[in-house]
Amino acid sequence: MVEAFAVASGKGGTGKTTSTLALGMALAETHDVTVIDADTGMANILFHAGLSDVDTTLHEVLAGEVPVEEAVYDQFGMQVVPCGTSLSGVRTVGSDAPARGGGGARGGHRCHPA
Ligand SMILES: Nc1ncnc2c1ncn2[C@@H]1O[C@H](COP(=O)(O)OP(=O)(O)OP(=O)(O)O)[C@@H](O)[C@H]1O
Ligand SMILES: [Mg+2]
Repeated sequence: MVEAFAVASGKGGTGKTTSTLALGMALAETHDVTVIDADTGMANILFHAGLSDVDTTLHEVLAGEVPVEEAVYDQFGMQVVPCGTSLSGVRTVGSDAPARGGGGARGGHRCHPA
């Protein structure tokens, strides 16, 4: 059975990336885990996961340029699909990317189940 968890917050800098990697690494001790960075606007899992040199990320997958298999990397006992950080990549993915910051949940974090 496949289970999916989404880590999201209306506010920036609240520990989403840190929590996602820590949760993934903990679950990877007993499960097959794939962590996907869907923060198309300001991705940084690739830095935390030591993947800052990779050329192929979720940007290229969402742009229809490559199959997702080409954006999967083995790190820390799990599979990681990083997102890109280039502005041109964001433009390629399109304007449907989630907006960042402002206007988010008031008085707390809103978590959306996958
Ligand atoms: N449990 C924690 N205790 C103290 N500092 C933490 C903790 N979790 C994360 N941080 C720090 O808080 C900062 C923001 O964390 P992180 O990058 O994970 O947040 P984020 O929500 O992904 O941010 P962004 O909105 O920019 O993507 C980082 O400097 C991180 O090291
Ligand atoms: Mg983050």
